[in-house]
Amino acid sequence: MKNILVIGSVGQIGSELTMELRNRYGNDHVVAGYRKTKPSQELAESGPLEIVDATDVDRIVEVVKKYKIDAIYNLAALLSGVAEKRPQAAWNVGVNGVYNVLEIAREFNCAVFFPSSIGAFGSSTPLDNTPQDTIQRPGTMYGVTKVAGELLSDYYYKRFGVDTRGVRYPGIISNLTLPGGGTTDYAVEIYYDAIKNGKFTCPLPKGTFLDMMYMPDALDAAIDLMEADPDKLKHRNCFNVTAMSFDPEIIFNSVKKYLPDFTMDYDVDAVKQGIAESWPNKMDDSAAREEWGWNPKWDLDAMTRDMLKVIKEKHAKGLI
Ligand code: SER
Repeated sequence: MKNILVIGSVGQIGSELTMELRNRYGNDHVVAGYRKTKPSQELAESGPLEIVDATDVDRIVEVVKKYKIDAIYNLAALLSGVAEKRPQAAWNVGVNGVYNVLEIAREFNCAVFFPSSIGAFGSSTPLDNTPQDTIQRPGTMYGVTKVAGELLSDYYYKRFGVDTRGVRYPGIISNLTLPGGGTTDYAVEIYYDAIKNGKFTCPLPKGTFLDMMYMPDALDAAIDLMEADPDKLKHRNCFNVTAMSFDPEIIFNSVKKYLPDFTMDYDVDAVKQGIAESWPNKMDDSAAREEWGWNPKWDLDAMTRDMLKVIKEKHAKGLI
């Protein structure tokens, strides 16, 4: 039986991934590691909970030993916009934290999941049908940490045999925990603002296409890759994965189909615009499909219907 540690378990992906891992492997086998933000009652009460900071080696070792951990999902990171404001902190968590986890995994024989990102690409990358193996010269600190994490993870696999695997996530859309300070966050905020205010001000200009994915597919991507037959994996860190690609006008029209009075205007954030324009419009994820059966289930229309339903319910209960 697997014993899993999730580092960053109260973040946007971590809060849902931890619960999904508990469903699949049993509550007692999945430790929720968190640093500062108070965990939800559900996360705190459904299984083990420990303070774990990716930059604190001794603390990670204590937890790995205590629970006999054999797989670590290291989700600790500062998203792209925040990383531009705090590049030193982003490096510390996104590179030193990744190195710490890999070293501990080497010593204690753990598998490691590493979430890379569309941010690992840059403006010299082919931005349409971005290949699995291509130029990676990101212009952001977020991207620099993701490329370093990919290379370090591959190095630990090749040099030490650590079972490292990862995906390059696109923008992730979800309705439980809000993302914090990412460039793709607008595609989450639009749904909340549509329900709460009937209007949305978009920080990216029309025509800015980005890869996106609904959270249930993002959870499957991580777990399916970690469960994949290692003999079939030609790549390790990290696989392109995508589910849809749209620009602000397309997601606006998707929402408007169900809320006809919904309106949107633009107030472009130049920093976010610069970042978004250096990221792929649409990635080629055929390597993930061929090597471990990646096959997303949610398209834009199905996601919009589900997001609006869940957020409407939360709003009616006064939770948002
Ligand atoms: N969602 C991330 C961001 O915008 C990209 O991986 O920073």
